[in-house]
Amino acid sequence: MKTVSLGGVEIPVLGLGTWQVKDEACSDVVRAALESGWTHIDTAARYENEKAVGKGLRAASAARDSYFLTSKVWHDQLEPEKLIQACEDSLDRLGLEHLDLYLIHWPNPRVPLKEQIEALLEVRARGWTRAVGVSNFTADLVREAQDLAGGQLALNQVEYHPFLSQEKVRAALDAAGMGLTAYAPLARGAVSEDETIRDIAKRHGKSAAQVGLRWLVQQDNTLAIPKTSNPARLAENAAIFDFELSEAEMAALTALGGERRRTIDPDFAPDWDDA
Ligand SMILES: NC(=O)c1ccc[n+]([C@@H]2O[C@H](COP(=O)([O-])OP(=O)(O)OC[C@H]3O[C@@H](n4cnc5c(N)ncnc54)[C@H](OP(=O)(O)O)[C@@H]3O)[C@@H](O)[C@H]2O)c1
Repeated sequence: MKTVSLGGVEIPVLGLGTWQVKDEACSDVVRAALESGWTHIDTAARYENEKAVGKGLRAASAARDSYFLTSKVWHDQLEPEKLIQACEDSLDRLGLEHLDLYLIHWPNPRVPLKEQIEALLEVRARGWTRAVGVSNFTADLVREAQDLAGGQLALNQVEYHPFLSQEKVRAALDAAGMGLTAYAPLARGAVSEDETIRDIAKRHGKSAAQVGLRWLVQQDNTLAIPKTSNPARLAENAAIFDFELSEAEMAALTALGGERRRTIDPDFAPDWDDA
C-alpha cells in the first residue's frame, strides 16, 4: 500500500471510512478489510462504532503495527481536560493502547484554539496517539492551528471529491506542510453517476468509483477514505494502484470541481472557503 509521510508517521493513502456502519456489520467489514490487505481504518467517537471497530480489528488478528487507525474527538469535547478524557475513552472502546492519528472532528470557536492544540499535543506526548491533526478546518484555521502546533499537525480531513474543489484549503495545507484526507471521496455515491468520470473509467476498464479514488491518491499528499459496508466492494475500491490517469484526465476531473457540490454541511460548520 502506498503511504505518505506526514506529522512524523507513514500513513497509507487509502483507508476505510466507517461512518454510519455499526455493530456486527461494522466489525465484519473492518475484519474483511484487514484480511484483504486494507491497512487504514477511519472512525470517530461520534460514529458510535469504536467498540465494533475494535472487535473487527481483533477478529482479524492483525499485528498492531500492520494497520493505521484514526479516531476523532467531537466538537463539544474540546476543552483540554475533556479532550484528554475523550481520547482515553476512545482507546478504551477500541481496546487499543494507542491510536495512530487523533483529529479534532470539527472546529469550535467557543474554546480557544491554543488550548485545543495543546491538549492534542498532550495526548500525543502521553503516547496515546502517534500523530495528531484536524478535520473540517478552513484555510485560515489551518494556518492558525499549524502555527500554534509548531508545525506538528499531520493533516486536515475535509470533504473532497471531483465535484468540490478545495483549492484554498489545499494551498494552505501545502504551505503548512500538511496533507489532505478526502472524506466523502465518492461524493456519497454521486461519482458513479457522472458521465465524464464514467467515460474515463471505460477507457481504463475500471469503475467510476475507482477513477474518482485514483484522481485523489494521484495528487500529492492526498489520502482517501471511501466507506463501504459491502465487503464485495472492498476489493474494487482498493484496486486503484494498477493504472494511472493522464494529465488530461486528471484535469477533466479537476474541472468538475467548479460545481462546488458539498454533501456535508451541518449548522455548526465553519464559514467554508467556497461559500
Ligand atoms: N471528518 C468528517 O467530518 C467526516 C464527514 C463525513 C465522512 N467522514 C469519513 O469519510 C468516510 C467516507 O465518507 P462517506 O461515508 O460520507 O461517503 P463516501 O465514501 O463518499 O460514499 C459512501 C457511499 O458510496 C457507496 N460506495 C462505496 N463504494 C462504492 C463503489 N465502489 N461503487 C459505488 N458506490 C460505492 C457506499 O455504499 P455501500 O456502503 O453500500 O458500498 C456509500 O453509500 C466516512 O465513512 C467517514 O469515515 C468524515
